[in-house]
Amino acid sequence: MDDFRYENGTLKAEGVDLEELARAHGTPLYVYSAATLLDHYRKVRDAFAPLGGWVAYSLKACSNLSILRLLAREGAGFDVVSGGELVRVREAGGSPARTVFAGVGKTDDELELALALGVHHLNVESREELERLDKLAGIHGLVARAALRINPDVDPKTHRYITTGKKENKFGVDLATAREIFAERSCFAHVDLKGVHMHIGSQLTEVAPFKEAVERVVAFADDQRRAGVDLSWLNLGGGFGIWYSDRAARPVLEFAQAAAPFLEGKRYEVIVEPGRFVAGNAGVLLARVIDVKRTAGRRFVIVDAGMTELIRPSLYKSYHRVWPVRSSEDPRALGESEKPGLELADVVGPICESTDFLALDRSLPEVARGDLLCIFSAGAYGFSMSSNYNTRPRPPEVLVEGERARVIRRRETVEDLLGPERV
Ligand code: LLP
Repeated sequence: MDDFRYENGTLKAEGVDLEELARAHGTPLYVYSAATLLDHYRKVRDAFAPLGGWVAYSLKACSNLSILRLLAREGAGFDVVSGGELVRVREAGGSPARTVFAGVGKTDDELELALALGVHHLNVESREELERLDKLAGIHGLVARAALRINPDVDPKTHRYITTGKKENKFGVDLATAREIFAERSCFAHVDLKGVHMHIGSQLTEVAPFKEAVERVVAFADDQRRAGVDLSWLNLGGGFGIWYSDRAARPVLEFAQAAAPFLEGKRYEVIVEPGRFVAGNAGVLLARVIDVKRTAGRRFVIVDAGMTELIRPSLYKSYHRVWPVRSSEDPRALGESEKPGLELADVVGPICESTDFLALDRSLPEVARGDLLCIFSAGAYGFSMSSNYNTRPRPPEVLVEGERARVIRRRETVEDLLGPERV
């Protein structure tokens, strides 16, 4: 559930009318609901708390400082994948001691920053990275806390571009290599290798692949303990799916319950790294219709947002619900097949690429130039994957809290884009 609702013919974020927000701040515009962000964060926290778990919110989904501040105040930890993201956590008042650092290609500078700030642990992806980390920690007279990322070779049944835990993916090491690395852990005197990490993919709608991966990874960890390794942390990654077009994704509690039998009584410190689950349905993108044109029997609704603001449809053919902000019907109450009499349309952006679409072959009511459309479920991997292609300044972000709305990132200007090139 989320806090975007149709009331008296208009869409609101909590208590704020989205048409009024769009008039005040222009379009395209990202709008987030603080209540939804917190509610979704609490759902994961509460699901995993009985397993000794805590949440490291995955910044890559949506990394605006005000949103990080909101989550940090609520006690969230963070999952970062770059030095830049780590700087964001620090700026937002997040605790490095509750921050985990992942990523398949961390540079020496990034490893040194993580060491200097004292992150909870680094998720190490290879023996080579472990050697580098050991050397750098030694130079600085520190001991690095680390978990080894295991690739459990499980099919997460999601889009192949966001599958990360199959053996052909670049992430982590296989179980046999992991065993060797733990056996040789004394060679890495400056690394405290006390955890294992997994993340099999994103937008997991089924629980079974997660359960299978947890079973494999916990069996591995238990074995290591029996062999004398002081194994403390199990980082189970993120990936919990959300509702985009339908109600297919299972509640996060079911993921926690599936993991529970393997973990109970073992006193592991469990970390989960959700991004999309927290932010996905907490944000929408608003776009205004520039023109509607009909050609070759198709209706094209051309709006002022496109792949520069939301690349997911172009990149993964992702489905995002699109519907007018002024409407007497909530599209989420209607299935795709329950919109008889509506004409199909492609909702496309202004970018010079044929893949610049937000929605294809959608049943949409009549819309005209100037109408405001809402692109739902855009809070995760929306703004954070936006670009300046075609020299398009990125849109502002607004955070709604009850009746209040405030700009948490101003609209970029063309001047912002040209500045770094005036060299
Ligand atoms: N932990 C690790 C190690 C990850 O690689 C990721 C996401 C997460 C946690 C958070 O996953 P989440 O809970 O958000 O599913 N741009 C794609 C998603 C890429 C996900 C990359 N890794 C999309 O728009 O669908």
